[in-house]
Amino acid sequence: MATEFKKNILCIGAGYVGGPTMSLIAYKCPFYKVTVVDINPERIAEWNSDTLPIYEPGLDEVVRTARGRNLFFSTDIETEIKQADIIFVSVNTPTKTFGAGAGLAADLQYWEKTARQILECADSPKIIVEKSTLPVKTALAMERILTSTDSGIHFEVLSNPEFLAEGTAIKDLENPDRVLIGSSQTEKGLQARDELVEIYANWVPRDRIITSNVWSSELSKLVANAFLAQRISSINAISVLCEETDADVNEVARSIGMDSRIGSRFLNASVGFGGSCFKKDILNLVYLCRNYGLDEVADYWENVVKINEYQKERFVLKMLKSMFNTLAEKRIAIFGFAFKSDTGDTRDSPAIFITKKLVEENADIIITDPKALKNAKKDLEGVEGSIDYQIDPYKAAEKSHAIAILTEWELYRNLDFEKIFQSMNKPAFIFDGRNIVDHQALFEIGFNVYPVGKPALTHFK
Ligand SMILES: NC(=O)c1ccc[n+]([C@@H]2O[C@H](COP(=O)([O-])OP(=O)(O)OC[C@H]3O[C@@H](n4cnc5c(N)ncnc54)[C@H](O)[C@@H]3O)[C@@H](O)[C@H]2O)c1
Repeated sequence: MATEFKKNILCIGAGYVGGPTMSLIAYKCPFYKVTVVDINPERIAEWNSDTLPIYEPGLDEVVRTARGRNLFFSTDIETEIKQADIIFVSVNTPTKTFGAGAGLAADLQYWEKTARQILECADSPKIIVEKSTLPVKTALAMERILTSTDSGIHFEVLSNPEFLAEGTAIKDLENPDRVLIGSSQTEKGLQARDELVEIYANWVPRDRIITSNVWSSELSKLVANAFLAQRISSINAISVLCEETDADVNEVARSIGMDSRIGSRFLNASVGFGGSCFKKDILNLVYLCRNYGLDEVADYWENVVKINEYQKERFVLKMLKSMFNTLAEKRIAIFGFAFKSDTGDTRDSPAIFITKKLVEENADIIITDPKALKNAKKDLEGVEGSIDYQIDPYKAAEKSHAIAILTEWELYRNLDFEKIFQSMNKPAFIFDGRNIVDHQALFEIGFNVYPVGKPALTHFK
């Protein structure tokens, strides 16, 4: 059966990256057999069901087309390692919570277990592709583990970081700005690199497939996330000044974004960035810099994270101050719990921090989100206080004193705010942490409106 296929591709880790990435490779290349394995049997069962474990626009169709044809999800890691020619490793690399580097460095335990398991099970040469985001020089460590016995089997380690953004993963994978492949510059390294280039070239134009040495590739991923997050923190830092000076951060962002040297993307002021990657990857970069004694460089990047924390804290304090310095027993509707729109992912979402802080103020919280309520419940497990969940935003808003918009879901732009206003306690407050609603129109309905980086519109004398 396996011989019908040109190559056997395996991916270890069926998460937000492994699942969509491999599904798209299988979809685009029917002549490769693509198998995704995971230690979590529930996750694999979901990938094999009609309810996929993650929500991504377009993902269902891609999986439905390829699954069973040349795309398979399995828990039999050992057998699949044996059969694979190319193994992508896409396990989680969270921030370390213990020991040296706790709170900064990447926790490489899942990744190292994978390397050891590959070594244990493999009985033929393999190309190993780092898909996970890893500190610079990790490929070297992987190579050392893989050559630690005298099995005589050759493993060639490549770095191929993933640049997809959740919420637009399928679009990004189908039409990437670039695909980056790092390899060693030896004959075997370049040969392995070319094999991987050949896979992507099935749908990605050649000039967008770029190659480099392994270390540049590993570092580029950390740097890309650091730069993206830095733009958000930069505009958020300016949003504070705008609020003090009656300038409007949207107008400032538009003016500077039209400068082609700056560009207009990633300039939306907000309650702050979230997601599993930005903070983790910057802290990882900070840790690397400190390790090399580069304290000034480390401090520079660390401030990107500090501004983000400050922006979240500021948001809660603004709510508290504007609602007469007490939130006790006030009902607050959180509109959006996902860290961004079009995903159900809530990892490191600003909504987690904000909800916890509001609960500490004894507010009654009701959370609504079209895709993230299941994850929200998990995130808030064990938090003592009054927290409810409601899929319907109109019901969530009923009898509330305030609405806090924390995710930029399109659906929140188009709600009937007249109806919502009628159902709320008065005075009714709205805190727009994403600047997505029409502030003037809401003010005219009767709301007291608090955007980010713009003057508040209130009915108070
Ligand atoms: N989420 C993103 O948007 C994104 C984008 C680009 C890069 N990345 C990077 O990709 C990597 C994966 O991220 P993710 O969001 O997919 O994580 P995830 O937590 O969603 O998925 C990781 C999966 O790996 C599995 N796993 C862990 N150890 C394993 C083992 N030994 N054997 C088999 N399976 C194992 C876990 O059970 C989990 O299902 C991380 O390094 C991340 O930084 C993430």
